[in-house]
Amino acid sequence: MARQKVILPEEGIPRDKLLKIMKEASKEDANWKDGKTWGLVNRASDEHTDLLKEVFTMFFSENALSPFVFPSLKKFESEVVSMTIDLLGGNRRACGSMTSGGTESILLAVKTYRDWAREKFPEIIEPEMLLPGSAHPSFDKAAKYFDVKPIYVPIDDKSYRADVKAMKDKISENTILIVGSAPDYPRGVVDPITELGALAKQSGIGMHVDACLGGYMLPFVRKLGYKIPDFDFSVPGVTSISADIHKYGYGAKGSSTILYRKDELLKYQYCATVDWSGGIYASPAMQGSRSAGTIAAAWAALNALGESGYLKLAKVVMDTTKRLIKGIEEIPELYVLGKPDMSVYSFTSDKFHIYNIADAMERRGWHLDRLQFPPAIHMTVNPPNSKVIEPFLKDLNESVEEVINNPEKKADRQSALYEMIATAPDRESVKDFVLDFLKDLYKAK
Ligand SMILES: Cc1ncc(COP(=O)(O)O)c(C=O)c1O
Repeated sequence: MARQKVILPEEGIPRDKLLKIMKEASKEDANWKDGKTWGLVNRASDEHTDLLKEVFTMFFSENALSPFVFPSLKKFESEVVSMTIDLLGGNRRACGSMTSGGTESILLAVKTYRDWAREKFPEIIEPEMLLPGSAHPSFDKAAKYFDVKPIYVPIDDKSYRADVKAMKDKISENTILIVGSAPDYPRGVVDPITELGALAKQSGIGMHVDACLGGYMLPFVRKLGYKIPDFDFSVPGVTSISADIHKYGYGAKGSSTILYRKDELLKYQYCATVDWSGGIYASPAMQGSRSAGTIAAAWAALNALGESGYLKLAKVVMDTTKRLIKGIEEIPELYVLGKPDMSVYSFTSDKFHIYNIADAMERRGWHLDRLQFPPAIHMTVNPPNSKVIEPFLKDLNESVEEVINNPEKKADRQSALYEMIATAPDRESVKDFVLDFLKDLYKAK
């Protein structure tokens, strides 16, 4: 499909008109302000968001590419990294960087281990990384970008956690890295990090914990008294962790951290070009110019909330999660998958196709993500969701009734597409289809 010709306006659009056009465009966006989304938007409170906006605006024009021109940003970034290391059990030798998000943190980790292994194990020509089947797709992206072969190992089909024995069996002379999630996105369970760390240590290879979701949540949930499996640098063998500030760190979108147990690894992440006529060019992460606003907002979020603020938010989120899970499990046709460790979980049904519930809820104004293998509905709980527990459960009960009473009703367009994609046996054709879809999606219409 050819793109529609949208061209630069000859004259700039006046401010009021421009804002009106953009406001109009946003009307189709999901209603996150009223807690109707369960993922994508992480938000502590209106006051907190106002503070982040103010700080973001204050540093709007600065550029974190140069720590010398903007020393305040170097201070903010290094302090954010330091606070996060402390939160995740790292000692004084631990180090890291801020990045634009979980994906960049994971891409950098994989690149770091690839380059480290090139030096440490020059005999390895085709490096491999072991991934539980539930690992986030950014590892697959990293595999493609950096030519590290991903070896997916099916997870335990009851607990939905990484299967340690199966992963051990897959370690080969080419394995350079083992990955675990804390928690994973599909079911919100923490993998057996202690056992996976021991495997990595025994084999003298890297172990990355993807705590993009849990890095700024699990430490506080544990302090509230919940039993949280060990997942951070306190586990021998864990050599790096990714933790996203723009998720439960309640920073601005575009902020995450990548941390290493020891600073020897950092040089494999960094890039320096010393023979360029533009001068010495060195950068810690993937981006060149970097948003100062997100770095400033990250520092502001951590310092404005402090431990007591994060604990309060974690309590609201965990109380909300418990009430929602209880409400879901009181509906006989529904059940939650596995035993989620924090505030990320999914539910499904054996009585009808769960996507029909997602459709029915969407017609009632809720935005819910659909999962596959098995089909389920995903929920990431945030503080604003605490205000919608009752309306959500009321609509969920009504939706279940509606689906039971209309067994013939076909899935809505989005669910039908998801179902077709999930059940198609030829996964390569599915991939081509999705890539074609994406190509058209980003064309001006
Ligand atoms: C477990 C996990 N890892 C990594 C990521 C990637 O994070 P981002 O979307 O910030 O790139 C996500 C995103 O949801 C995630 O849930």
